[in-house]
Amino acid sequence: MKFTGVYLVVVLLVAVFSSTVVNSCPPSDREALLAFKSALNEPYLGIFKTWTGTDCCSNWYGISCDPTDSRVNDVVLRGESEDKIFEKAGRSGYMTGSLSPSLCSLDRLTTLVVADWKGISGEIPACITSLPHLRILDLIGNQLTGKLPADIGKLGKLTVLNVADNKISGEIPSSIVNLARLMHLDLSNNQITGVLPADLGKLSMMSRALLNRNQISGSIPSSIAGIYRLADLDLSMNRISGSIPAQLGSMPVLSTLNLDSNQLTGQIPVSLLSNTGLNIVNLSRNSLDGYLPDVFTPRTYFSVLDLSFNKLKGAIPKSLSSAKYIGHLDLSNNHLCGSIPMGFPFDHLEASSFTNNDCLCGSPLMRVC
Ligand SMILES: *[C@@H]1O[C@H](CO)[C@@H](O)[C@H](O)[C@H]1NC(C)=O
Repeated sequence: MKFTGVYLVVVLLVAVFSSTVVNSCPPSDREALLAFKSALNEPYLGIFKTWTGTDCCSNWYGISCDPTDSRVNDVVLRGESEDKIFEKAGRSGYMTGSLSPSLCSLDRLTTLVVADWKGISGEIPACITSLPHLRILDLIGNQLTGKLPADIGKLGKLTVLNVADNKISGEIPSSIVNLARLMHLDLSNNQITGVLPADLGKLSMMSRALLNRNQISGSIPSSIAGIYRLADLDLSMNRISGSIPAQLGSMPVLSTLNLDSNQLTGQIPVSLLSNTGLNIVNLSRNSLDGYLPDVFTPRTYFSVLDLSFNKLKGAIPKSLSSAKYIGHLDLSNNHLCGSIPMGFPFDHLEASSFTNNDCLCGSPLMRVC
């Protein structure tokens, strides 16, 4: 027994030693990381000072490897972090330079996060689409320019694509609809032009689609309504025209719909306001007309219902006062008329929710009916 125990310990020690000796990061991965580093300049925190020595898998800041073969799996560099290095420097990160195409030789990469460094410019290396294992691509909060790679759809394992808060221009590549595993798409706050792909609904795993603050034109493809898991759709502050597809009202888990500050016309689909799963709806600053549908029930629950700055006419439906809860209601700057219903969901609302209509009257407006 004793002998077996000692023998086991020896075998284990030998195994541990030989694995650390044999399995250090391959020189090609190390070279790729050093080339990536040399295209960047990080003056305040010194994170790249940890990138020394031959084994890029041990103690290189932001690098993790596959323990079985020591290939680089993850590059995770966040400029906003609670990490000690940031605490010590007493500031958030800042980096200039560009993303070297040398990254593309890290062909086992699953996660590439180079986020919130504020000053990294240049284009997203097009060769990134040849990384077959890439699951997470997060480049939020830099100064990246140029287009999204045309063949981005090749990244068959991608679940997160986040390039928000950059200066990406050009159109949304049509191949994007081939990202069969994509769950989170965030292109917000860029300079993206062109239309939304008509077959965007092919992205059947998507739960968040944030495309706000771009220059996207054309209409909202009704195929989006077929994305069963979509919970959060934000197309606000674009140049989107046409009407709101009625099918959006029958989406099973959609809870946030922001279409504000576009050029939408037509009526608000009845199905949209009767969808009791919808919790935050902002349709403000469009050219929506017609009447407010009379579809509210005791199951109606809105944290936000902002329909301000449209061309809505007629009366506020009495049924709205039967709602279970309405946190923030804004019907101002329309052509509504008649008396404001009384009752609970209206008790806490201020006059500003109703101002600048044609002839609304009653509390909380000063005008008596
Ligand atoms: C709705 O969108 C408008 C215009 O984009 C914005 O000004 C407003 O603050 C939003 N409403 C809410 C409640 O967030």
